[in-house]
Amino acid sequence: MSADVILGAQWGDEGKGKIVDLFSEQYDVIVRYQGGANAGHTVIVGKDKYVMHLLPSGVLHKNKMNIIGHGVVLDMESLVGEIEGLQKRGISISPRNLLISENASIVLPYHKLIDKAKEEKKKGGKKIGTTGRGIGPAYTDKYVRIGVRLRDMFNNETLLAKIEENLEEKNFLLKNFYGQKELAAAQVAKEAKKFAKKLKPYMANTLSVLNNLLKKGKKVLFEGAQGALLDIDFGTYPYVTSSNPTIGGVMTGSGVSHRLIKKVWGITKAYQTRVGNGPFPTELDEELGSKIREAGGEYGATTGRARRCGWLDLVALKYVCELNGLSDILLTKIDVLSILKDIKVCTHYIYKGRKTQDFVSDGEELYTVKPVYKSLKGWGSDLTKARKYSDLPKAAKAYIKFIEDYTGVKVSMVSVGPERDQILKA
Ligand code: GDP
Ligand code: IMO
Ligand code: MG
Repeated sequence: MSADVILGAQWGDEGKGKIVDLFSEQYDVIVRYQGGANAGHTVIVGKDKYVMHLLPSGVLHKNKMNIIGHGVVLDMESLVGEIEGLQKRGISISPRNLLISENASIVLPYHKLIDKAKEEKKKGGKKIGTTGRGIGPAYTDKYVRIGVRLRDMFNNETLLAKIEENLEEKNFLLKNFYGQKELAAAQVAKEAKKFAKKLKPYMANTLSVLNNLLKKGKKVLFEGAQGALLDIDFGTYPYVTSSNPTIGGVMTGSGVSHRLIKKVWGITKAYQTRVGNGPFPTELDEELGSKIREAGGEYGATTGRARRCGWLDLVALKYVCELNGLSDILLTKIDVLSILKDIKVCTHYIYKGRKTQDFVSDGEELYTVKPVYKSLKGWGSDLTKARKYSDLPKAAKAYIKFIEDYTGVKVSMVSVGPERDQILKA
């Protein structure tokens, strides 16, 4: 009985999708526990590219159970689109390999409208740069206890009553505050039921299913979405998402005991990226930043936005290691740094006139820190063909060792490209 976790150790897009797909072979069950269709997890298999938003990245493997836990906010239209899209590509998806928690909170059209309208109304620097997928408003409803859950979709009276109650307040806001059109409850319910009908066969008490599978000795892999620095509690608030991508989210979003969790893998790129707004102490100027962006293909998998690029922030990474009790680091995209002669890593911040190794998680305060860098030698050669750790040049090994020494966590695997075979065990 054991479970392992894969979570993002930066601001998202660390390559979790590739790693979960790769690891899935060794597991029986793959579970998403938080976030929603704001996630974009890319899996490359030969010439084929798949981007998962809500589906666990284990779905491409046969005979695996994939579970969407109740901590996820479920955009039914997006999920139905994903399922049908994969089915058209010959991937079998049925209740035999996918189950969705009956208690998952539903993202409805008014959540997306409010998400976008709220962002538009914010002044320049105050914008979060959300994905517009309704994540914040859907979690808000969950926490103020007016949310609609998947189970409600199949009780017409409850559903209509809940949507009517919600719209009373939201229509007022939409019309009078955001200058938008009001929505009709009956229409919202009708549209939602259309998608819910397609998802009904997948609905289950996943809490019980998951714990029973664990009792039977099945191996479970948890797939984090977003990244630790986007965590609502531990991230760079308010420039964060509205869920807990950190370790606690595994328990609250799935219902599995913390005692069963063995390995906690933190996925980090060999450099830093961020999509959307918010502080980013090691962000590079446009010239070098765009070189890395092009070499790394750093464009959002969900929104297509250009990702901001910078040097690896070890102060932030160490914070994430300690916060999540990471057992291992998996370093991705080190191949991208081959274009550089010298590589910098941030080892300290200057904060309030003091040199410190303590991360500053407050979003506004983090804007005030100045990074202190250590320069490390680049390797200048292609790493994408490396298949064993010993294939790596000395300078690349020194870069990895520096990360290990700084964080005190072993870099157990290194990824040198998007494909399944581009991975090395350290
Ligand atoms: P996720 O959200 O954490 O799953 O990451 P994304 O899929 O949003 O972004 C990671 C991108 O990097 C994807 O396009 C992957 O195909 C790609 N990728 C993953 N690992 C590597 C790697 O080691 N090297 C390179 N060059 N690309 C990678
Ligand atoms: P994956 O799982 C990178 C960012 C948004 C924005 C902030 C809040 O692919 O790593 P939200 O729509 O969640 O309210 O937006 O969080 N964000 C991500 N950035 N990767 C993601 O997911 C993200 N999901 C949300 O850009 O800054
Ligand atoms: Mg992504």
